[in-house]
Amino acid sequence: MKHIPSLVAEEGRQAIYPSLAGKRVVITGGGSGIGAGLVEAFAAQGSEVVFVDMLEKESAELVSRLAHSRIAPRFQRLDLTDLSAMEGFFRQLGSIDVLVNNAANDDRHKLEDVTPAYWDERMAVNLRHMLFAAKAVAPGMKARGGGAIINFSSIAWHLGLEGLLLYETAKAGIEGMTRALARELGPDNIRVTAVVPGNVKTARQSKWYTAEGEAELVARIGRQRGSRHSRECPTRPRAPATLLATRLVHAVGVMLKMNARIPQKHVRRRVRD
Ligand SMILES: NC(=O)c1ccc[n+]([C@@H]2O[C@H](COP(=O)([O-])OP(=O)(O)OC[C@H]3O[C@@H](n4cnc5c(N)ncnc54)[C@H](O)[C@@H]3O)[C@@H](O)[C@H]2O)c1
Repeated sequence: MKHIPSLVAEEGRQAIYPSLAGKRVVITGGGSGIGAGLVEAFAAQGSEVVFVDMLEKESAELVSRLAHSRIAPRFQRLDLTDLSAMEGFFRQLGSIDVLVNNAANDDRHKLEDVTPAYWDERMAVNLRHMLFAAKAVAPGMKARGGGAIINFSSIAWHLGLEGLLLYETAKAGIEGMTRALARELGPDNIRVTAVVPGNVKTARQSKWYTAEGEAELVARIGRQRGSRHSRECPTRPRAPATLLATRLVHAVGVMLKMNARIPQKHVRRRVRD
């Protein structure tokens, strides 16, 4: 199993977009998995990256590995379910250009496990912080003349996968929230988009990985999208961070399936290179 950041480095063919150089970027859940790939990809663009996470050891290792970057990424420990701590973090940081709402937690559960408290906890870790992070950064983005907010949804709810009732509920909510925020913030030149990843083999995902599960996933996607997609196994990590770093900050109000190509018509360039 390959780790996403090293995959990005190994590929070594990331396009460089001068408009991203020096941009102030915040990535939530940047300490591991896809988030760590995002940190690496934005750092490679010369962006000023600050990432938050609860994983101190992994995050410190990432910071030291990327210390040679044009602008070395910075890490702040933060529990995103603590809204007042999050508000304090953004207040102290000042205005930013790009917010990547990536952090989530896909612990498995069944309907009979769901209590009101568990509902609140799952929404807090998977949905609520995204809205409040967007709220915290919007005034600063307006003052800077615009910005980009990128929310991570999931293919899980599109496929109705098992054991993820509340995660899928939150992820469906993220796509609705993205449209509503795009409408609300668009007039201020703040572009809001959602990414809908397929199965990406992060270290955490290996906890649940089985060959049978992967085969079932591929078959379901095939049934939903037709034969072309059933031939294209969606489980290979294809450096999603690269896609984001190079394209998404220029898109507006769209849901992008991570395993699909990004249609050029959705890529609206507003920031001058
Ligand atoms: N990996 C996949 O197959 C897949 C598929 C579809 C969608 N996604 C989505 O992509 C995003 C990244 O997924 P991933 O697989 O890298 O996830 P992951 O679980 O590997 O990493 C999530 C990161 O968020 C951090 N985090 C979780 N709760 C936090 C909290 N309360 N405060 C601060 N940080 C917190 C974790 O410590 C971790 O570093 C998520 O939004 C996920 O739902 C992933």
